[in-house]
Amino acid sequence: MSTYRLEELKQYSDTLRTRDGEAIHVRFVEPRDIDQLQHYFRSLSTRSRYNRFFGAISELPKGLLNDFLLVGARERFTVVATKMVDGFETIVAEARYALHAETSALEFGLSVDDRWHGRGIATALIKNLECRAAALGAEHMFGDTLRSNETMISLARTSGFAFVNHPDDWKLVQFDKEIHLAPKDIPCASWRLAAFSRQADRPSASA
Ligand SMILES: CC(C)(COP(=O)(O)OP(=O)(O)OC[C@H]1O[C@@H](n2cnc3c(N)ncnc32)[C@H](O)[C@@H]1OP(=O)(O)O)[C@@H](O)C(=O)NCCC(=O)NCCS
Repeated sequence: MSTYRLEELKQYSDTLRTRDGEAIHVRFVEPRDIDQLQHYFRSLSTRSRYNRFFGAISELPKGLLNDFLLVGARERFTVVATKMVDGFETIVAEARYALHAETSALEFGLSVDDRWHGRGIATALIKNLECRAAALGAEHMFGDTLRSNETMISLARTSGFAFVNHPDDWKLVQFDKEIHLAPKDIPCASWRLAAFSRQADRPSASA
């Protein structure tokens, strides 16, 4: 299992822009976020929570909340998108992703605070996840959504994903996108650097 230090993770923060040009900060979740993260999930509409977790929950069960906070454990990562609201750093979206090294795939799920829907936050966050996927050496990224989740299906389509039936559950559909980004082409600065250092760490073919 990889271990990650908070100080190292802080360098992988990015600034995204909403469709109106507002700045959104994306960073790995930190232990200090525990209460705000739970508050974020409680504050989502019932429908958004159902769409995010494929079931009726009112908040994150304790075990899952702890898993969300363990960045890097079992190659799973949580990021939060935050914005300053009335002087407080406020979580407006989250995404969780897992690197499946054996299939070179990055799996992800995400949500945006209902009050911030329709502003391009998810679109920007997915682009950011693509940077992260490319830097980690993933060759494709995918996620699952309920067939009834028209918003996510539309978002995945406009973000360039193709759809396949879910292998195990007829209520779900899987969206998948190949990633063809050389390190020099990764549009997020911090992840471009990470990809270059990953490349430098790899033994060269002639060694
Ligand atoms: C799906 C979700 C993440 C989209 O977030 P968002 O920030 O509102 O999305 P964006 O503003 O980036 O919109 C992107 C695209 O989604 C689609 N979309 C957004 N709102 C929509 C709506 N109400 N109805 C249909 N399509 C919609 C559109 O294609 C839109 O592109 P366009 O505005 O250029 O037409 C958000 O609705 C959400 O958090 N839902 C609950 C959790 C969830 O469903 N997660 C997905 C499963 S993991």
